[in-house]
Amino acid sequence: MAPIIKTEKLCHLYSQGTPFEKQAIEDIDFEAEKGDIIGIIGHTGSGKSTFIQHLNGLLKPTSGRILFNGTDIWENKSNIKDVRFKVGLVFQYPEYQLFEETVYKDIAFGPKNMKLPEDEIDKRVREAAEFVDIEPELLEKSPFELSGGQKRRVAIAGVIAMNPDVLILDEPTAGLDPAGRESIIENIKEYHRTKESTVILVTHDMDEIARTVQKIVVFNEGRIILRGTPDQVFSHGEKLQSIGLSVPEITRVTMRLRELGLPLEPSIFTVEQASRALLALKGGTGHA
Ligand SMILES: Nc1ncnc2c1ncn2[C@@H]1O[C@H](COP(=O)(O)OP(=O)(O)OP(=O)(O)O)[C@@H](O)[C@H]1O
Ligand SMILES: [Mg+2]
Repeated sequence: MAPIIKTEKLCHLYSQGTPFEKQAIEDIDFEAEKGDIIGIIGHTGSGKSTFIQHLNGLLKPTSGRILFNGTDIWENKSNIKDVRFKVGLVFQYPEYQLFEETVYKDIAFGPKNMKLPEDEIDKRVREAAEFVDIEPELLEKSPFELSGGQKRRVAIAGVIAMNPDVLILDEPTAGLDPAGRESIIENIKEYHRTKESTVILVTHDMDEIARTVQKIVVFNEGRIILRGTPDQVFSHGEKLQSIGLSVPEITRVTMRLRELGLPLEPSIFTVEQASRALLALKGGTGHA
């Protein structure tokens, strides 16, 4: 299957040609298939946000290409608007960008820009609100009356309402409490399952990514240094730690047990896997 989105040797220099020139990403080759759910991890400043802002044409590459369904998105500039509808991007701390008088209008902003008919906009707004657990009675409130977590959900709903083929979320759970984080992740998984869309999730939280995505890409200093399934990536625990990333808590425990001599696989990243592996060592069945 051809990838829905792909980058080739993508590079971005900020403030090119000035004393402040900064190479934020370098030679990024990336691809996502339709229906993939992919996690992007990396230390602060490793280029994650810079990278994803290229995928919907918000930033223009200094060199390299972005292909959406096989077409270079910059080949024809008039396509960019269309790409922004098809590749929906939820920014870091998106709640700061809410500005309409009502929650409804905020969620409707994207679909309105797409010039959809009123009844379709209404359907999209209600469906998107439902995906993020925003009750219908909140739709007529001002976004400023909502809690931080609810504002975050409204901002996510605003992108979901455009029904993008690719949904990209930049640290959607940052700054929320554990319950808020958990429920937003569940909403995203549910959206991915129902719509069969492609989802790209940037996060700092290793436990969150371990139980959410099928593939992981690791950024370090503007480059991709590791990619694969969660078990492939988390089996490089030492390497991840050497670039300032953690591994899921359970992987830390099993790494320590390995150091102490227990013959455990390096690729354990969920509690279920750890419990199966430990029971197997005991000679158990793994189903206790
Ligand atoms: N507008 C800008 N102008 C100049 N340099 C920038 C700009 N935005 C980001 N940078 C620099 O580019 C590099 C990559 O930044 P980016 O924000 O993409 O990293 P990130 O991985 O998203 O970090 P974080 O985890 O903190 O969100 C960093 O060195 C950053 O300081
Ligand atoms: Mg960022």
